[in-house]
Amino acid sequence: MYMQLNYRTQNGNMFIASTAVLMAEVVKLIASLYLSIRSEASLPAGIMSVYVHVWKNKVDTLKVSLPAFIYLIQNNLLYVSASNLDAATYQVTYQLKILTTAMFAVLMLGRSLHKLQWVALVLLCIGVALVQLAATTVAVVGSVEQNKLLGVGAAIGACFCSGFAGIYFEKILKGSDVSIWMRNVQLSLASMPLGLLTCLATDWTEIKNKGFFFGYDAYVWYLVVLNATGGLLVAMVVKYADNILKNFATSLAIVLSMLVSIMFLGFSINFQYIVGTVFVIGSIFLYSYQPPKKPTVATIPPDDTGFNSGLKHLKRN
Ligand code: C5P
Repeated sequence: MYMQLNYRTQNGNMFIASTAVLMAEVVKLIASLYLSIRSEASLPAGIMSVYVHVWKNKVDTLKVSLPAFIYLIQNNLLYVSASNLDAATYQVTYQLKILTTAMFAVLMLGRSLHKLQWVALVLLCIGVALVQLAATTVAVVGSVEQNKLLGVGAAIGACFCSGFAGIYFEKILKGSDVSIWMRNVQLSLASMPLGLLTCLATDWTEIKNKGFFFGYDAYVWYLVVLNATGGLLVAMVVKYADNILKNFATSLAIVLSMLVSIMFLGFSINFQYIVGTVFVIGSIFLYSYQPPKKPTVATIPPDDTGFNSGLKHLKRN
């Protein structure tokens, strides 16, 4: 996603953003259909299973439409944000999704986080923002006119979408035994009509004049496939871990990819990167730290003789 957004800020023939979002869904649908059918005993059994889950259980498919809709808004907001902000501001603002995700996990899944875990999440936000700032030395503005307020507003909107859709999808994935590939078939099928509507509503004139695939080169196709693969990986992480851990994993991935750039691509290491990395790694330890439970005082009720009445026993939970 980050590379895709940087690419959009370059000069030259820009592809039409809404078409790339739609194409990523098409690629994801093909991959999820293949994986769903392959997990059944035979091809007819696979097709039957898709038919039952997608068409016969329409209510279930509809349930998945909500995160599909929100993800679509999120992806389009991210394009708006990247087109209106320099890469550094965009990346730093979007890190707030770490906090919105935790907030929705508490509100919608009833998860409880202790104070140190909240501190860890704030540290993680700051750390990953510092690492990204260290990587983005030149703000590419190009000839495109930018509206900073719109860009920041869109990025914050995308943070809320990310948190809500992620946690809602986690609830659906963990709340039933429908496979994650089938869930992704449902998700893509729900996303595609919405994506098509977005193309028509926002970019119809441009698509009519220039063509749907205007500006597509091998790199844009690579980004489309990368986005689709990323989506499927997100689903796996959410199913087998959770959304908050996913944010830790992606932050660590950012730190590591920067390290690879320093080691092999000649990027220079700077103070921001070191502080950011310490924050990210520190936040992982802090988040997983379980403070010892305080001993509670249990009062033993008085027995027949009246003894024990004042007796208090210390009990460890
Ligand atoms: O930034 P964030 O982690 O919220 O991004 C998640 C991305 O994963 C979104 O772009 C969303 O469209 C994508 N996704 C997906 N398929 C899923 C779950 C998420 O394409 N099953």
